[in-house]
This record gives sequence, structure tokens and C-alpha cells, in this order.
Amino acid sequence: MKCDIRDLGLAEQGKLRIEWAGNTMPVLRSIRQRFEKEKPLKGVRLSACLHVTTETANLMKALKAGGADVVLCASNPLSTQDDVAASLVKHDRIPVFAIKGEDNATYYEHIRAALAHFPMLTMDDGADLVSSLQFIAVGKLDGLHPSVRKWHDSLSERDRKRLVEGVIGGTEETTTGVIRLKAMEKDGVLSIPVVAVNDAQTKHLFDNRYGTGQSTIDGIIRATNFLMAGSTVVVCGYGWCGRGVATRARGAGANVIVTEVDPLRALEATMDGYRVMPILDAAPIGDLFITVTGDMHVIDAPHLRKMKDGAIVCNSGHFDVEINLKALKKMAKKVRAIRPFVEEYTLKNGRRIFVLGEGRLVNLAAAEGHPACVMDMSFANQALMAEYMYRNAARLEKKVYGVPREIDAEIARLKLASMGVAIDTLTREQKKYLTSWEMGT
Ligand code: ADE
Repeated sequence: MKCDIRDLGLAEQGKLRIEWAGNTMPVLRSIRQRFEKEKPLKGVRLSACLHVTTETANLMKALKAGGADVVLCASNPLSTQDDVAASLVKHDRIPVFAIKGEDNATYYEHIRAALAHFPMLTMDDGADLVSSLQFIAVGKLDGLHPSVRKWHDSLSERDRKRLVEGVIGGTEETTTGVIRLKAMEKDGVLSIPVVAVNDAQTKHLFDNRYGTGQSTIDGIIRATNFLMAGSTVVVCGYGWCGRGVATRARGAGANVIVTEVDPLRALEATMDGYRVMPILDAAPIGDLFITVTGDMHVIDAPHLRKMKDGAIVCNSGHFDVEINLKALKKMAKKVRAIRPFVEEYTLKNGRRIFVLGEGRLVNLAAAEGHPACVMDMSFANQALMAEYMYRNAARLEKKVYGVPREIDAEIARLKLASMGVAIDTLTREQKKYLTSWEMGT
């Protein structure tokens, strides 16, 4: 079996950690049990480009139990858990292409390996896999990474066709990926149907908010041993991730400042009790800066120049573009690794700025990503939407779809049941009241 991982010897440790995560993924477990019996994905070649974590391993096992022929590659060079990759290869016979700390060329070599599986379904976190397919589908081969391009150019005409025309559809896990896909749809170049799993309520309301909230603070503390109490933490962006991070930083005793560009979100942050101000004003005040916007250069040279000696900057958005590291490198006279996942930049003005996890997702680089309890719902959505796409392949158009409301609601019901939480149901009288306009008084 082809694979590219760090060390097969880590497989036993990975197996136990995967089992541990599985303990708090009851919804995914119930889907896996049904998949085992019904085999709804029998013979479906599925390429997944996801963070290779214990939670993702449980998703891969569920898909395989459903009959899918699965290949997994990393969706970020720093997020792979090498023991998990080893266990999936050794114990589950799933080809994995992912090594923590891989360079950019290896990262794309791994994407290439996932494409070489000639997937019928794709599963992305950040849309890197599907973007490569899009470049091929629309003939924009210059957009491909050179190693993917070289491989593509070596394919026969028949295989090139098979690569593009064999894809039934894809799913996308994260906000940034959905933004990329919607841009493709708007430009009329989206060549397959895609489901935006991120847009399910059982995904973003929990994973983005509580998952990113807790795991980001976890990553920062593991990397630095930073004391939150009494510190000034600047959260850039007040989407679901930003809301989560701000809540947890405040809960740990920090004075939280929020920066935003959207007036509604800024207003919400203000009424949630945070100080809201432009990043340029926050720059000299903050002890710790966390970007969660999905956009580039949110922390740029003018902001870095104004920061205090010892300021810590990190990112929990999908790509490593939110902090302008190129500019920081130019401003620095010295750079050294001072702890794992902490780099010290000494500027020409003598001040030091500490960057965590090379500006990549700090929650996955320096910690273990979101807890399994929330990934349970995200990955239940992924598994059910893979089944849905395969079942409905004939009638899906080349569009970005949401998760059907009934599936979203069913996942919420299953999660509540697993937590032992019961809720009320409407009486017939109440239902009637809600559907009629004559009973208003
Ligand atoms: N994204 C954020 N946290 C994650 C996790 N634990 N597993 C997979 N993807 C993630």
C-alpha cells in the first residue's frame, strides 16, 4: 500500500488516542454502525484532504465501514498527528499522505497522491484538493503547484478526462474553503456540486465557536505557558471563531479587545462587553494577538512596528496569511526558535515579537485541534453528506449546497440524546397556533 508518513512505529500510540477520541463521538459512532450494515458508499473512491487528527481518523473509519475506498492527505503542513497517520495505515489499511512539519513541496506531493486516487467524492478542509481539480477542469494549469502540474502533464488523455469527469461531488469543512468555493461558483467555474458542511448549524455554531474557542487558548498555553489572567488579548475578527476565542479568553481572566471591519459584528462585540477599536490602536496595548478573520495581512508591518516588547502573535484562521510574516522577517535583525512552536523575532528597534506555530493554525500546530465532542457533529455532517451526494448524484447541479435542514436537526437530536438531554415537543394546540394567523389574540 502506498503512503507517506513519519513513522509506522507510532501506530500503537495512535490507535489508543483514536479510541480515546471515539469515546466522545457517539453520533459519528452510530453512523458508522449503520454504515457497517448498509454499506452506502460501497466501492466509492473518496479522497479526503483534512487535518490528520484522532477525530479525522474516526471519520475515516466510518467512511471505510460504509464501503468507501478512502485515501487521506493533510490539509495543513503543521496539523498532522504522526501517530494517527501511522495507526490508520497499520491498523485500518487506509493510505495516508501526511507528515507533521512537511515542506510546501511535500504538502502538494501529498495532494497529488490524493488526486491520483481518481476520486469520485472529495472531502476538503480549506478547498486545496478541489481547487487543484478546478484548475484542471477549466484548463488553468498555471494555477497548479508544479508537482501537481508535472503529474497531470504525464497523464494520458483518457486519464485526464477520468480525473475531471469521474468526480461526483465534494464536501467542504471550513469557512475559508466555502468562501473559495462560492467565489468559483460566482465566476461560473465550479465544475462539481459541493456541500458546504461549514454552513450546517450543527457545525459552525459548535465547532467554530466552542471548538476554536477552547483549542486556540489551549494551543497558546501549551506553546507558551502564558498567563491569561490580567493580560490584554486582542482578537481580530468576530465571526463564530472570534466569538468563541473572545469568550474563552475573557473566561480565563483576560481583558479582551476585538477588532472588526463589519459594523454589525463590531456592534455585537461592543454589546457583548468587549472594547472594540482599530488594530492600529490595539497594537501598542495588546500582550497577545489572535487572528481569526480568514483574510490576509490583518496584522501588518505598521501594527507590528507599534507592538510592545514581548508581544505574542498567532493565528487560528485556516491559512497562514493573516499575519504578514514576510514583512516581519524584513523588520527583524534576528530570528530564533526559543521553544517548540515559538519563534522570537528581534526587530531593529530592539523589541521582540513572538510568533506561534509559524503563523499557521495555532490550535492544531501547538495543540490537538478541536475536542472530539464537537468534531463529532462536524464529522457526522461530513459522513452523512458523502452518503447524500453519492445517493443524489444524478440530480445535483454544479452548485454550492447547504446541508439539508432535516439532517442538521437530526444530528442535533442525536447529540442531545447522547448527552442525556431531553427537550419538550409542541402540543397539537401549540402547533396550530404557530401555523395560523387567526389565533393571534
Ligand atoms: N479542525 C479543527 N480541529 C480539528 C480536529 N480536531 N480534527 C480535524 N479537523 C479539525
